Amino acid sequence: MSKHSVLFFPDNVAVQVETGTSLLRAASLAGIELKSTCGGKGTCGRCVLKVKEGKVSVGGGNISAKLKTAGYVLACQTRVEGHAVVEVPRDSRLDEHQVLLDNKPVGLLAEKQVEELAGYEFQPLCRKIYLELDKPTLTENASDLSRLQAELRKYTDCRDLEISLDNLRKLPDILREGDWKVTVTLTSLNGCAEVLHLEPGRSTKKSYGLAVDIGTTTVVVNLVDLETGQIVDKRGTYNRQSRYGDDVISRIIYAGEENGLEELQQAVIGTINHLVDKLLAKNEIKAEDVHVAVTAGNTTMAHLFLGIPPKYIRLEPYIPVTSSFPPVKAKELGIAINPEAWILSFPAVASYVGGDIVSGVLVNGMAESDELTLFIDIGTNGEMVLGNRDWLISCACSAGPAFEGGGITYGMRAMTGAIERVEIDPRSYEVQVATIGNVKPMGICGSGLIDCLAKLLRVGIIDRTGQFQKDINTPRLRETEDGKEFVLVWGKDTECGKDIVLTEGDIKNLIRSKGAVFAGIQSLLKTVQMDVAQIDKIIIAGGFGNYLNIEDAIQIGLLPDVDRSKYEFMGNTSIKGAKLALISQPAYRQAEELGRKMTYLELSVGTMFMDEFVSACFLPHTDLSLFPSAT
Ligand code: FES
Repeated sequence: MSKHSVLFFPDNVAVQVETGTSLLRAASLAGIELKSTCGGKGTCGRCVLKVKEGKVSVGGGNISAKLKTAGYVLACQTRVEGHAVVEVPRDSRLDEHQVLLDNKPVGLLAEKQVEELAGYEFQPLCRKIYLELDKPTLTENASDLSRLQAELRKYTDCRDLEISLDNLRKLPDILREGDWKVTVTLTSLNGCAEVLHLEPGRSTKKSYGLAVDIGTTTVVVNLVDLETGQIVDKRGTYNRQSRYGDDVISRIIYAGEENGLEELQQAVIGTINHLVDKLLAKNEIKAEDVHVAVTAGNTTMAHLFLGIPPKYIRLEPYIPVTSSFPPVKAKELGIAINPEAWILSFPAVASYVGGDIVSGVLVNGMAESDELTLFIDIGTNGEMVLGNRDWLISCACSAGPAFEGGGITYGMRAMTGAIERVEIDPRSYEVQVATIGNVKPMGICGSGLIDCLAKLLRVGIIDRTGQFQKDINTPRLRETEDGKEFVLVWGKDTECGKDIVLTEGDIKNLIRSKGAVFAGIQSLLKTVQMDVAQIDKIIIAGGFGNYLNIEDAIQIGLLPDVDRSKYEFMGNTSIKGAKLALISQPAYRQAEELGRKMTYLELSVGTMFMDEFVSACFLPHTDLSLFPSAT
C-alpha cells in the first residue's frame, strides 16, 4: 500500500501514513493528541481540523455546515488519500492546556485545606539509610549481601530483606567503590523490606515518590520529596485514553477489541510518563531517584493501567477481576522512573467504587469520625460513601461526565479559559461570565454549568423540566436546526471565535447527571433508613474549578437542602490520599483496610434507584418538600 506524507501546522511535523489512515490516527502518530471524546465515532465533533491542501476523503459526522464551508473536517472521519497539509486549531488539542491543579478560595465554598498527614505518622514508603559495613577479612568472610543485610536489620523490623538480581549484580562494585560505606534506598511493604537502590558512600541525593491520580478524563501527578513529605511540583493533563471514548464503558468495550487493552494501557502509561518527564526535567531530578509511586483511580482505570481485562466490570453481575491490586515494578509497566521502584495501586471496593474513592475516604477522615458523613465525588461518575468510624456504605451512579464537561456542547474540564461563574440579568437577560485565569472563554466547566443552570431557572429562561420558555425576548435565545440554544458568550468575545452556547440537549444531560447524583444519595439514605437531616457533614470532591457554588447546586437539586455550614469542599481527594499513603505507611495500610471495610450498594438491583432518579429529573425535584429553600 502506498504511503503519503501528512504535514501538521503550526507544529510543522510530518508523518508518513498509508492510504485510508484517518487524520486522527495520523495526528496521534505525529505526537499531536486531539480531543476525541467519542472515540473516533464522529459524534462528539471535537476533533476538528482544517485541510489546507492535499487529497483526503471526507466522511460525515457531527460537524456544522458553517465549519464545513470554512474547510474544516472531523479528523476521525477523514481519510488520507495523498499528501496533505493540515492545520490543527488550538481548541481541538488535548494537551494544550494544563488541568487546574490548585483551587483557590474565591468562591462561596472554598476548598478545605487538608492537614498534611491527616493524623497519620510520617513514615514514607521509601527512605535512604547510610551504612558503614565492616570490611571482610580472611576470618570475617561473610558474603557481600549477608554483610549488607546484617547491618540493614538494625533499621527495619521486617523479617524478609530482599534485593533484585540487577541490584545484586551492582552490589560488589558499589561496596568497594565506597570503601564499604554505602547508601541504601529501602522500601518496606507488607512486612517485607527491599533494597531498591545502592549508592557508594554517603549520598546527598534525595529520594522521591509519585502520587498519581488516574482519572477517566485527566491524570494528575504530584512529585513528592520523601525526606520532607513536601510536594516538589505537580502537573496534570488529559488522559490519552480519552481518544478511545469519554467514559469507562467505552474504554471497557475498546479493551475487548484486538490489541485494545494494550493500546489503552500504553495510552495511560504514556500520559503518566509525559507528566513525569516534564516534572523531572523542570526540577532537575533524575528518573533513578524516584523510588516509589502510589496510584489511585477508579476500578476500570486500575485494571487498564495494569493491563488486566476489565470486560466483566460491565456485565451482570458486574464483578472486577480483583479489588486488591498487586504491587508492580516500574520496569514491568514501563513507567519512566527507577526500574526497581514499586508502583502501588489503591484497592477498590467494587466495580464502580474504586481506589480513588478509598483514597478520598482515607484523606477526608470520615472513617475515624463519630460524625455521620456523606462523601460525594462528582467526576465522570458520581460515587458516594455514607458512614462514620463504625460503618461505611458506598454506591456509584452513572451520572455521566456532564460536570466534567463531557456530553455538553461547549463543556470542558476546569482549566484556564473555562467559564466557572455565570450571572444573568433578570430583566435584560444579559450574561456576565468569569473564567479560570481571567482569559477569553473557551468553554464551560462543572461549576459554571451548575451556576448557569441555576441562573437560567431563576430568571425564568427555563422551566422546572429544563425547557426554554417561549416568551423570552432576547437574541441570546435562538432556534437552530438542532433545537433551541442560549448564547452565553458571543463569538467576538470567545477564544475560539464561536458563540459559546448551552443547548436544550445540554440542559437535559445536566438534569440527568444531577438527578443521578441526588438519586444515589437518596438510595444510600433509604438503604440505611436515614434521612438527610441526620447527616452531620457533607464532603464534596471533584474537579469543579476554583469554587463550588453550593447554593446553586442545591437550587438545581444536585445536593441536599441542608444547613450550608455542613458542607465542605475538598477538591481532588484522590491525589491527596495517594500522596498521604506515599509519606505514611500506616495510612497506606489503612487504605487497604478501608477497601475491605466499605460495603457496596449495587444500585441496578431493584427499582429504588430508578424511582429516585425519575423523581429527581426536575429542577430541583418533583418533591419540593425536599428543597424547602428552593421554593
Ligand atoms: Fe471525531 Fe469524536 S467526532 S473523535
